[in-house]
Amino acid sequence: MDRHLVSIDVDRIDTEEKAEEVINKLRESIEYHNYRYYVLDDPIISDSEYDSMLIALRKLEEKYPSLLSPTSPTQQIGGEPRDSMGLVQHPIPMVSLKTIYEAEEVRKFDQTCREELELESVEYVAELKYDGLAVEIVYNDGKLSVASTRGDGTTGEDITANVKTIREVPLKIKQFSKILPPSQLVVRGEVYMSIDGFNKLNESRESEGLTLFANPRNAAAGALRQLDPTVTAERPLQIFVYAVAIAEGYSFKTQWEILETLRKWGLKTNIEMSRKCTGIDELLAYHEEMEQKRDELPYEIDGVVFKVNNLEQQEKLGMRSRDPRWAVAFKFKPRQGTTVLEDIIVQIGRTGKLTPVAVLKPVHIGGIEVTRASLHNQSEIDRKDIRIGDTVLVERAGDVIPQVVKPIKDIREGHEKKFRMPKKCPSCNSPTHTSEDKKLTRCLNIDCPAQLRRSIGHFASKMGMDIEGLGPKRINQLLDAGVIDGFLSLYEISVDDLVDLERFGKSSAQNLVKQIEKSKDKTLDRFIFALGIPLVGTQTAKILTDNFETIDDLMDATKDQLTDIDLIGPEVAKSIVDFFGEKRNRNLIKMLRKKGLELSNPKISGDKKLDGLTFVFTGALETLTRSEAKELVEIYGGKATSSVSGNTDYVVAGPGAGSKLDMAKELGITIFSEEEFLRFLKSNT
Ligand code: IVH
Repeated sequence: MDRHLVSIDVDRIDTEEKAEEVINKLRESIEYHNYRYYVLDDPIISDSEYDSMLIALRKLEEKYPSLLSPTSPTQQIGGEPRDSMGLVQHPIPMVSLKTIYEAEEVRKFDQTCREELELESVEYVAELKYDGLAVEIVYNDGKLSVASTRGDGTTGEDITANVKTIREVPLKIKQFSKILPPSQLVVRGEVYMSIDGFNKLNESRESEGLTLFANPRNAAAGALRQLDPTVTAERPLQIFVYAVAIAEGYSFKTQWEILETLRKWGLKTNIEMSRKCTGIDELLAYHEEMEQKRDELPYEIDGVVFKVNNLEQQEKLGMRSRDPRWAVAFKFKPRQGTTVLEDIIVQIGRTGKLTPVAVLKPVHIGGIEVTRASLHNQSEIDRKDIRIGDTVLVERAGDVIPQVVKPIKDIREGHEKKFRMPKKCPSCNSPTHTSEDKKLTRCLNIDCPAQLRRSIGHFASKMGMDIEGLGPKRINQLLDAGVIDGFLSLYEISVDDLVDLERFGKSSAQNLVKQIEKSKDKTLDRFIFALGIPLVGTQTAKILTDNFETIDDLMDATKDQLTDIDLIGPEVAKSIVDFFGEKRNRNLIKMLRKKGLELSNPKISGDKKLDGLTFVFTGALETLTRSEAKELVEIYGGKATSSVSGNTDYVVAGPGAGSKLDMAKELGITIFSEEEFLRFLKSNT
């Protein structure tokens, strides 16, 4: 790739012609690196190098709007929100698969295929059965044109804008060799959310006081059906493509060839986990192996799919009324168990939302002991008619929070008790309010200590101000001891306040104070996230810092100004305006800045203060990790390299530095300690 693309100076490009040339190169390079990252899982450049190309491209497209193209990688973030979903007719019906549960049925399936095809043995492709949502994506002349849900199989919902936000979905088909990709390509696959992505999403929803998703599949469905694609873009959706409905001008011979070719076109297929199998033993072995691997996979699967590999044979076998004869879905055993619901406790979230949680008699499900399960809200409890004392069916899916599926009503004994959300907050005893639909109960006291605990936790979290050592236990302890009562008081803590507390020694007290001090240097986007504005996740916080230079600019933004930003939808805009409309919040920010919070915004070009400077880090660092240090240099426009040469401007040396330090001395290069480096960064930015 063209390395120089990473450090392009957009301001120097002053003609449309030049811009067009650079834009094309940037797009090509970004598409290539998307492919390496998302499809091959094998990136060859750093995230910050990638980001700088994307930022340069976005700037150039802003400067020369006539060069903007709907398939540009910058368009992969979200589009305009809509009032309702349109409908899309599938060119060929989207059928589903026959589901089977027993090995015996696999035997029958194989037998029927062999008999019908009059063959001794049939080759199959065994694939995973992803637990997501089936989608269809149409590419016309190589460009993504329409994406839709399965719907009733004939007509689905138009989810084009949402699917475009999925990084793994290319907006353009990649051409390999000289042969053009098909003029029309219609592919099908499964959109899903990884377990990790799902857990993070729920964590952040919990801290924003929003209802939690029951499982990754529901979360993916919710994200796909969003009317506001900005919201979709915030959700970590992924895809596996597994079928071709139309490939104009192409005739594939096998399912395996389809998987391989789609990947070459830049579409994400899961060849690694798929396998060619012949005969019942190989099919059953695949099923068994995948059932065992199920818990290690980063995404949910609920079975495996067997497809006749040869497409002519598929054709011969044809269809039953609703599903093909040439494929079956062989499901895994569901991971469910029954146990007694001993109690229902209520948790309070950061925005005061009360959530009922089931306390279960410990039960082993799929090798894990389950003691708690989510009950969501009063409306869910009523709908399922769950009572304390009931024997309940509990389902676990991957790492996901277990769910109470239903009570076993037949064995009720009469002592079971209905549950009502408390009228008073279990933490502060203030009145609560339950919405009419009973889906949301809140504590109305904005100073509720339980809320405060959660908001401080969010503020200090890894993605927020990243205050190491300030976990939930410590926060509780400090609140209980009256050392803190909100964000502001964090910055007033002294070592003396801590040393007398239990489990605090001098060094851990000093350490915490140091970490809090360090958080003052955190960038604006982290701060915006840390504030805990409902609906503002890390992505949105970053988008905001791309568009507002300072926190003051953001605080004064109107709803129109916010929705004018391509990537911010009306709901998010309203939430931001409401948040900063509160005098308390504005005051808090003013006071925090008085405490010395920097809230610098390195994204704004004026802050590229290290432009043209090259740094080398050697020896041990104390406060920063090596990659944080490099990231800082890159954020401010500098370069961090690993070897000292005549091009090196500064060497940052810590304990244990050796030959690189000697070399720097020899060349007369300025040498910084880590502390001097950080001071330099501050004074220079
Ligand atoms: S092939 C005609 N392959 O399972 C074949 N489906 O009822 C069409 N699914 O609606 C589907 N993983 O949502 C196929 N590897 C896979 C799959 C898969 C999950 C879903 C798909 C479909 C349902 C089957």
